[in-house]
Amino acid sequence: MCGIVGYVGHRNASEVLIKGLQRLEYRGYDSAGIALIKEGLHVFKKQGKVAELQKIIEGKDTTATIGIGHTRWATHGGPSDGNAHPHYSSDKKLAMVHNGIIENYDVLKKELIAKGHTFESETDTEVFLHFIEQIQKDNNIALEEAVRIALNEVIGAYAIVIVSEDAPDQLIAARKGSPLVIGIGENKSEYFLASDATPIVEYTKDVVYINDEEVAVIRGGEMKITDIKNVEKTPYIQTLEMELEAIEKGGYDHFMMKEIMEQPRSVADCLRGRVIADQMHVKLGGIRHKMKDLMNANRIIIAACGTSWHAGLVAEYIIEEFTRIPVEVEYASEFRYRNPIIREDDVLIAISQSGETADTLAAIELAKSKGATILGVCNVVGSSIARSSDEGAYTHAGPEIGVASTKAFTAQLTVLTTMALMIAKEKQTLPEETLHKLLVDLESIPEKIAEALKCEEEIKKISEMYKDAQNFLYLGRGYNFPVALEGALKLKEISYIHAEGYPAAEMKHGPIALIDEEMPVAFIATKDSSYEKIVSNIQEVKARKGKVIAIVTKGDTLIPSMVDHAIEVPDVHEALMPMVSVIPLQLLSYYIAVLRGCDVDQPRNLAKSVTVE
Ligand code: F6R
Repeated sequence: MCGIVGYVGHRNASEVLIKGLQRLEYRGYDSAGIALIKEGLHVFKKQGKVAELQKIIEGKDTTATIGIGHTRWATHGGPSDGNAHPHYSSDKKLAMVHNGIIENYDVLKKELIAKGHTFESETDTEVFLHFIEQIQKDNNIALEEAVRIALNEVIGAYAIVIVSEDAPDQLIAARKGSPLVIGIGENKSEYFLASDATPIVEYTKDVVYINDEEVAVIRGGEMKITDIKNVEKTPYIQTLEMELEAIEKGGYDHFMMKEIMEQPRSVADCLRGRVIADQMHVKLGGIRHKMKDLMNANRIIIAACGTSWHAGLVAEYIIEEFTRIPVEVEYASEFRYRNPIIREDDVLIAISQSGETADTLAAIELAKSKGATILGVCNVVGSSIARSSDEGAYTHAGPEIGVASTKAFTAQLTVLTTMALMIAKEKQTLPEETLHKLLVDLESIPEKIAEALKCEEEIKKISEMYKDAQNFLYLGRGYNFPVALEGALKLKEISYIHAEGYPAAEMKHGPIALIDEEMPVAFIATKDSSYEKIVSNIQEVKARKGKVIAIVTKGDTLIPSMVDHAIEVPDVHEALMPMVSVIPLQLLSYYIAVLRGCDVDQPRNLAKSVTVE
């Protein structure tokens, strides 16, 4: 949420910053801005996307070699030119970009107003910067010292970068709760700062992830890192594994489509080295030391949000079925505030694509404080959740840039299924033959997804027919119930059609009242242990003239004879079916959104990583 960039070196800073903002735009797109130092400090900012910012800087002299930039997801103050970052200090000598929320900004603002400060925006960021400025003036100290003092006083989350007209080769950055990465150019001739590595990867692979409550000062080609008490830290330089192609559209119109189509590859990457059916090998290397805790867990608690929560629901069914360990799935945002019972022999699994979701992080901290073991299932390497977990397994799906999560979901299911089978093998809760069959099926998921993707043309036609629907219902049972939730979420978030997901049998307890000839109902009705039951549910909808789109197992003839549209997916074990049955639903939401003229990759009001609670 909110993307920040910074650059100092020998290149044209505005070009680096604009390109970086375009790469980070998925984190927020309410406004964008840059600040450059060249014979003074110059700020350019504009409500709307980075393209709007580009329009206003066209023809202006932007040839600086140092600067900072920001793309905003509004928190304090609505989207406007004035609330766009960077913000100035009152003497206009400092400019700052910020990702996060300062909770005590109101108190600070009142104090600053009493000292004569006036503000041009409604943001907490401007208050934060004026606070730093005031501390510097009051104490007549270096800017970095004033930053450290301010960071000891503010409450909340931040990643910040500051430039000063008086120090035209200096960037000061700090973080707490919001991510910040520094890329180091060849021979330390240049430095790139960003909220994540995507704007950095094309320039350098040497990066340092700044830790919470650390301050980085880059000056005269040198980087110094201290904590907020001014104790010096040794930077740990890591090598990025990301490739540039992974963050480009690769010929597709949208990142979302590229990411849907990538799933045979991303699931295969996720399985690589972890599952070899013929050898009965099933292992997540990242969960070595905590495997005993996991096997002997009194209970597994899964905490997540959104699509990741849906992956957790599927995992609940799988883990309980195959390992007999009780599982509870929690919305991280509820869990953290409801004084839950957590024991030392509980294991909390946090699932998060971004690894930065504030509520999921808070759920981890709560479980940790009660002594539970924490395992992370994250996509972004080095992310906050990955780092605050005891151990974990990466999903290896590669960068997911479309705001609607697709390949992260199937990769999360892959990891969680692998984890369940790993426990089952160790605990011997499954007959060997069953385990082998499941491993064979799991290994085949990439090709099964590739086959499922062949329904694209059919889905396009169906999308044409239903693109103007006002509502959609998604129904599934058993393992396919969370898929119904996920299908509904995908549709509503990118096409703005109201959609609800329900367990199919629950329909009779209320939602059936909504069904008439105008109501499209998507049934996820593959051949599994609740097949007969879902056939009855389909009949109930047809009897009330609902339009039924059914996701069915290849070769099924009964359901296709009853429904308006049947989309076939290949057969797999029912526990693995969500990885396959979700594919047509991802495509359906994509094509409906495209046909409605929606901004598929950057749907309104959303941001990719939700770093505020
Ligand atoms: C939906 C979507 C969101 C995220 C949720 C959690 O398509 O992307 O619902 O799943 O914000 O995000 P992560 O997984 O990054 O914790």
